[in-house]
Amino acid sequence: MCGIVGYIGPRNATPILLNGLKRLEYRGYDSAGLAVLQNGKIEIRRDAGKLSRLTELINSDPIQGSPGVGHTRWATHGPPSARNAHPHIGATGRVVVVHNGIVENFLELREELAAEGVEFNSDTDSEIIVHLVEHHLSAGLDLTEAARRAFQQIQGAHGIVLLSADEPDKMICARIGNAGGVVVGLGEGENFIASDIPAILEHTRRMIFLESRQMAIVRRESVRVETLEGEEVKPQIHTISWDAISAEKGEYRHFMQKEIHEQVRSITDTLAGRVDFQNGRVRLPELNLTPDLARRIERIVITGCGTAAYAGMVGKYLIERLARIPTEVVIGSELRYSDPILNERTVVLAISQSGETADTLAAMEEGRRKGAILWSIVNVIGSQAMRIADGSISMQAGPEIGVASTKAFTAPLVDQYLLAVLLGDLRGVLDETTRRALVADLRLLPDLVSRTLEREPHVEKVAHALKDIRNCLYLGRGINMPIAYEGALKLKEISYIHAEGYPAGEMKHGPIALIDETMPVVALAPRDPWYEKMVSQIQQAKARGGKVIAVVTDGDDLIPPLCDHVLSIPATPWLLSPVITVIPLQLLAYHIAALRGLDVDQPRNLAKSVTVE
Ligand code: AGP
Repeated sequence: MCGIVGYIGPRNATPILLNGLKRLEYRGYDSAGLAVLQNGKIEIRRDAGKLSRLTELINSDPIQGSPGVGHTRWATHGPPSARNAHPHIGATGRVVVVHNGIVENFLELREELAAEGVEFNSDTDSEIIVHLVEHHLSAGLDLTEAARRAFQQIQGAHGIVLLSADEPDKMICARIGNAGGVVVGLGEGENFIASDIPAILEHTRRMIFLESRQMAIVRRESVRVETLEGEEVKPQIHTISWDAISAEKGEYRHFMQKEIHEQVRSITDTLAGRVDFQNGRVRLPELNLTPDLARRIERIVITGCGTAAYAGMVGKYLIERLARIPTEVVIGSELRYSDPILNERTVVLAISQSGETADTLAAMEEGRRKGAILWSIVNVIGSQAMRIADGSISMQAGPEIGVASTKAFTAPLVDQYLLAVLLGDLRGVLDETTRRALVADLRLLPDLVSRTLEREPHVEKVAHALKDIRNCLYLGRGINMPIAYEGALKLKEISYIHAEGYPAGEMKHGPIALIDETMPVVALAPRDPWYEKMVSQIQQAKARGGKVIAVVTDGDDLIPPLCDHVLSIPATPWLLSPVITVIPLQLLAYHIAALRGLDVDQPRNLAKSVTVE
């Protein structure tokens, strides 16, 4: 979704803003622009299209100076066009704003401003903000107070940065609700603002994360954080440990491919420091889980969207089986509308790569409102889902740039396994032998991931055979049923091939009618408790002329003769099998999309971080 970068300091803002926006490209956008204060005048360059278009504009009409703000826009109000691209400048030409979010009361505010004679130059709701600020400036307020008044007037969730040619020593930014983050990066004699850490990580690791309803007055030498009501806040300064290099593509063709391969490392990092192999125990200190709390929990509601929700479905199996706590999964966009039964003995466990997904945050807020215990499993450190939780597990996946989530799917699978073992232990459900065996199995995981990834050349061959298909069914059962959903999501989001995940046992209740030679079936049939059922499912699909691609365990000699293609995995303890079975499906989707020549990392219509409802 939209991205923001701001700079104030002695350097020329233009290349800093362009580089920062480049690092946010993964969020998805349809137009881009920047504004820089040059010789006392605000200069804007903006247009629909990719950053290469913005760079062309700047090359043909260069701008330099400071401060400056840049923005990548994902259209909500008004189509992608130069006039709708940010930054938006006011009627005086002295104030400029960039904005993420939706001004929910935009129509009323626009009518009020129009009645005062304000003319609008775009179809966007964002433009309202700059006119409101100018309205308050014309009444004699300074920029800080004018901005504060404007921020108080707008409804909805927002991330905002603005600057004025008349007060060039500062930029003002604000976060209201959950429209993505607002981060202030602290430099030496210069400061930065961004919606996301990667945009400014090459300049500084010291960051302040604004909370909802906070604003910051950012100068070269100082940052003052206040509430929207004007009360000063002493901000916490976080030091980010990610290195900028790990956000680069390296030897891989696409970030998605790199991230699939990074799973050996992300799984290793997930276990590091949390698993005591000697004593067969798990530690999750950031969760703040005491034995007393573990025993008090009566129910867990896992929430998240898309891939994160599918990870939660695997978590349900693990928690119910190992900790015997009734667990359900409610997708983020539904939870708050279902009047859920939540109380102080219910845990709402949110899973989110970005930690900024609006629907997931809204689900957490519903949990908070009803007095539930809030936990989160989040990849982006310092994100809202981490901050508002009572306890959290950080994913250790590292920055994920490809829109299609891969390593941020397998990391929470392992996190939930750890959580299930810990809960089972603290509640006295797991006997020592079982607990030790479950923990010992984890030791195998990085090597199993690595051995599965080595089979990429074979998966690529299968992708060649499938690259022109138009539809595909993914079938799974039990703990691998969510992997069918996830495999189908991966294929549809990056290759634009229609794909559906289905619980294999449901086939005979309708979908089997779809099967013929044009409907390939990807069947998840590892050696797990549902193996025999999957064998008969594969036989039924074959009997109807379907092409079957099966994910099977090494040494299986029953299924391969029944199939058209086999994607094999090494033998894996079945409770951990989803971490491994999903890998060939990630690779398959990746190679099909790459062979079709598609923009794998930034698929059409999608954004990495979905910060609107
Ligand atoms: C994953 O491949 C998707 N792009 C999408 O479903 C994603 O998982 C979902 O939008 C949730 O994002 P989050 O993990 O950042 O909350």
